Amino acid sequence: MNIPLIGLGTWPLRGAECEAAVGSALELGYRHIDTAEMYGNEVEIGRAIGGAPRGDLFITSKAWWDKPDGPAIRAACEASLARLRTPYLDLFLIHWPSPVLQLASALEGLAGLQRDGLARAVGVANFPPGLLRQALALNIAPIACNQVEHHLYLDQSRLLELCAAHDIVLTSYTPLAKGRFLDDAVVARIAARHGATPGQVALAWALSRGRVAVIPKAAGRARQAENLGAAKLVLDADDVTALAALPKDRRLVNPDFAPDWQA
Ligand SMILES: NC(=O)c1ccc[n+]([C@@H]2O[C@H](COP(=O)([O-])OP(=O)(O)OC[C@H]3O[C@@H](n4cnc5c(N)ncnc54)[C@H](OP(=O)(O)O)[C@@H]3O)[C@@H](O)[C@H]2O)c1
Repeated sequence: MNIPLIGLGTWPLRGAECEAAVGSALELGYRHIDTAEMYGNEVEIGRAIGGAPRGDLFITSKAWWDKPDGPAIRAACEASLARLRTPYLDLFLIHWPSPVLQLASALEGLAGLQRDGLARAVGVANFPPGLLRQALALNIAPIACNQVEHHLYLDQSRLLELCAAHDIVLTSYTPLAKGRFLDDAVVARIAARHGATPGQVALAWALSRGRVAVIPKAAGRARQAENLGAAKLVLDADDVTALAALPKDRRLVNPDFAPDWQA
C-alpha cells in the first residue's frame, strides 16, 4: 500500500465547508483524504475530488460499527463508492470493533472487496492489540492498516510493535491531539529551535515513529499548508528524548462503545 504519509482528516467537516477544505487541500498538494460513512460528508468529498486524476489520489473510507458481517460491510463500501462517485477506494476500514462484529465474516467481506477491485487495500480502525492479533491469526484478509488515536500524549507502543511485525501501517488519527500541545513548553521550545510550529512538531513526532501516516484535520488553507510542511521537519535525538518524556496516556477519543483498549 502506497499511502501518502500526510493526509487530510475530514471529521467533522460537512457541506460547503468540507468541499472547500478538500478543494484547498488538493490545491496545496494533499493527495490522501480520510473520510467515513459516519462522517456524512462523502458526497461533498466526491464533488471536491471529481476534477482530480483518480490515480493520483488516496481515498480512505470506513464502514460504521453497526455493520456486523461481510455482506453488511460490502453494502457499506458500495454505498460509500456511490456517494464518493469513484470506482474504488484506496483503503477501506472497519471503523470500530463492536459487540455485534462477527470477525471472520467481516474479514471475508474485506477480502472480497479487495479481490473484486472495490478497495485497493483493506484494514481496521480502533483495534486494540489483542483483537488485531486475533484478526491476523484468522489470516482471512490482508490487513494493511490499523487507524487509531496516536499523538504526543498517547504513544501506542504496543500496537506499533505489532504493526511493524506484520507490515501494517498505523494511521494516526487525532495526530494533533486536537491542539492540546498549544500550551506545552517542551513542544514550543523544540518548534522555536527548528523555526517550525508546534503543530509541525506534533506531526513530525508521530511520523518519526516508523510505519506511521497522519491525518490532521484542518478546515482552513493556512493550517493545511502548515501541517503539510511537517514532512520537512526532522527531529533530532534530543527532541525525541524530550518529547518521549511527555505524558503518554491521554486518550481523547473514547466513546461508550469503544473496545477494551488494554485487550
Ligand atoms: N477512525 C476513527 O475512529 C477516527 C476518530 C477520530 C478522528 N479520525 C480522523 O482523524 C482526523 C483528525 O482527528 P481530529 O480531527 O480528531 O483531531 P486533530 O487532527 O488532532 O485536531 C484537529 C483540530 O486541530 C486544529 N488544528 C489543525 N491544524 C492545526 C495546527 N497546525 N495547529 C493547531 N491546531 C490545529 C483544527 O482546527 P481547524 O480545523 O479549525 O484548523 C481542529 O480543531 C479526523 O478528521 C478524522 O478524519 C478518525
